[in-house]
Amino acid sequence: MTRHGGHLAQGRLSSDVLSLDRGYPRTVDTASNLHDPASRRLLDPFRFLLEWVRDPVGTAAVAPSGKALAALMIRGIDETTGTVLELGPGTGVFTHALVARGVAESDLTLVEQNPIFARLLQQRFPRATILGIDAADLSHAQTAGTGIFGAAICGLGLRSMDAMQVEAIMRAAFARMKPDAALYLFTYGWRCSVPDEVLTRLGLAAERVGATLRNVPPASVYRLAACAVAG
Ligand SMILES: C[S@@+](CC[C@H](N)C(=O)[O-])C[C@H]1O[C@@H](n2cnc3c(N)ncnc32)[C@H](O)[C@@H]1O
Repeated sequence: MTRHGGHLAQGRLSSDVLSLDRGYPRTVDTASNLHDPASRRLLDPFRFLLEWVRDPVGTAAVAPSGKALAALMIRGIDETTGTVLELGPGTGVFTHALVARGVAESDLTLVEQNPIFARLLQQRFPRATILGIDAADLSHAQTAGTGIFGAAICGLGLRSMDAMQVEAIMRAAFARMKPDAALYLFTYGWRCSVPDEVLTRLGLAAERVGATLRNVPPASVYRLAACAVAG
């Protein structure tokens, strides 16, 4: 069961996930007359705030990330990377940036636990694989292509999770990645949001790749990879 009380869904977003949001308001996309995709995205801060009010810990931010942070997060990924895993895409700020950079939509697997966001992603990225599951359950899920990813980006609020949960998520993600693949994550804190003891247990190294003040709040990006290939 998800934190929203629905059953986990695997593969392309299933009707299980679509039915999870019974009792929630329909997404604003559906209710509005805005047809231009860019105009629809103008409503994303409002959507995000609503979800944060409903579930502050799970949503972990009051607003979607900005374009500067998105550019930093996806800098090491392009059309040659192959399949890409995204954890916690929310309204899809990083996802849009990946597609704009040349990553094929069909090469994307998006893991989003919130059913409102999962349905929005399904509308926006119909060729991507959307998994409406807890990222820690990724090892049991069916994913795009071979299921072994060339890179991953993580938008989860790891700082609001305990170390065991962070370890379970990182373990599940790296188990589905190529040996030399990197995972990029951002944090609003001063240190990498994956604790040192978790990095050590998983044989990972973290490298800070940059920071941006042009985000609310300002954020840093870290690149995680297996120790032998880190750096
Ligand atoms: C801080 S928001 C970031 C959203 C987006 N990446 C961005 O930067 O605008 C975290 C997202 O992770 C999702 N999330 C939180 N915990 C999750 C989990 N255990 N598994 C999958 N998604 C999760 C939330 O629903 C939310 O969409």
